[in-house]
Amino acid sequence: MSIQLNIRNAGLRENELAFVRPQVEAAFKTLMDHSGAGAEMLGWHDLPNTYDKEEFARIKAAAKRIQEQSQVLVAIGIGGSYLGARAALEFVKGPFGNQIKGKGVEVYFAGNNISSDYVQNIFDIIGDRDFSVNVISKSGTTTEPAVAFRLFKAKLEEKYGKEGAKSRIYATTDAKKGALRGLAVEEGYETFVVPDNIGGRFSCLSAVGLLPMAAGGIDIDAVMKGCADACERYKNPDLFQNDAMLYAATRFIMLMKGKSVEILASYEPSLTMFGEWYKQLMAESEGKDNKGLFPVSANFTTDLHSIGQFIQDGSRTMFETVLWVKNARQELYVPNDPANVDGLNFAAGVSMQEMNEKAMKGTLLAHVDGGTPNLLVTLDKLDDYGFGELVYFFWKSLAISGYMIGVNPFDQPGVEAYKKNMFALLGKPGYEDARGALEARLESLK
Ligand code: PA5
Repeated sequence: MSIQLNIRNAGLRENELAFVRPQVEAAFKTLMDHSGAGAEMLGWHDLPNTYDKEEFARIKAAAKRIQEQSQVLVAIGIGGSYLGARAALEFVKGPFGNQIKGKGVEVYFAGNNISSDYVQNIFDIIGDRDFSVNVISKSGTTTEPAVAFRLFKAKLEEKYGKEGAKSRIYATTDAKKGALRGLAVEEGYETFVVPDNIGGRFSCLSAVGLLPMAAGGIDIDAVMKGCADACERYKNPDLFQNDAMLYAATRFIMLMKGKSVEILASYEPSLTMFGEWYKQLMAESEGKDNKGLFPVSANFTTDLHSIGQFIQDGSRTMFETVLWVKNARQELYVPNDPANVDGLNFAAGVSMQEMNEKAMKGTLLAHVDGGTPNLLVTLDKLDDYGFGELVYFFWKSLAISGYMIGVNPFDQPGVEAYKKNMFALLGKPGYEDARGALEARLESLK
């Protein structure tokens, strides 16, 4: 087992876990029986045993083809259609993975914003090099990826001609319906499926995430193995034998005790995008019906020099879940310097990993002393297997805690509000009625 949960610094009183035990076990049962809200979206729950093996083989073949035909893959998608793959690539290859020669192509993510400068930056990075595109959208009509796809498709057609472009476009979308499915069939793109029973934020171990991961050099067999092992491990119905349940129960107690913010903190820059993935998972799943913990993420020790002040002694609304990685990919040691102007020679010869660990432990104690309870999740190392395992740990735990707070963890009604306003303001057909009122409101705010 490479994930360990330690709640000894969560400040729980002796009877608190016993008190919530019936609730967490009931939520666990609801999940296992598929009897709760959103049960039709539980395709992720047994995914490592049920995934489409034929498609998995095609994903590996397509990744190989992308590596043969291109130096760069542009993965176009937003939300659940991009965060997992980006998190995986940085988790395994590090924040500079694209710049380091190794397995796989460089992967850049577009269609996750509406910034012109951002797209132009990717055009500039690609330069004259060969590139392919994986457009990922269940609906095919999500504004951000749709805009980006138009731009990158035009670039491909300009460079390779219409026919050449087709062999470099891979579409991951609904199995049967939707705008992108229609276009892909018409144009003859190779297609992959966003399963109907898996929501965006649970989709990164389907073709949605697996194709960009594999093209970028990740061992997706190892990812699925990590996921499968975690799936098996977290079937245990005993709260004290199942860390996914224990994490859900502890978060629930934090919420009951008035903590409204959970900070996912790590000490590895490779986990920054994992924090982004985590925030979507938690916020879209629990943040509804005026309920839920607000998830934020932090990267230490970097952020100890900014929001660390608030965590130490700002308003006492938060608790921390620290992701600690036990083993560095590569050990480096603090050099000795005869001049010792920075006074650092006391640590000469100490490994950076050891120093990072001392920073983590010192911070943990300081934050606990300051009134920020701590949950510690320890990982062996940042590798392909560990990514699959950790993703499943959080999926399972979140589903349980969602049921504990009484929400449907698998829908996201709130994300539509901004889209309606944006479409109305842009004059999209069908939104005319709302436009006048919105413009009047904006005018009154000038
Ligand atoms: O979690 C979700 O459902 C969302 O983040 C979606 O993945 C995101 O909005 C993209 O949707 P689509 O794949 O239809 O473009």
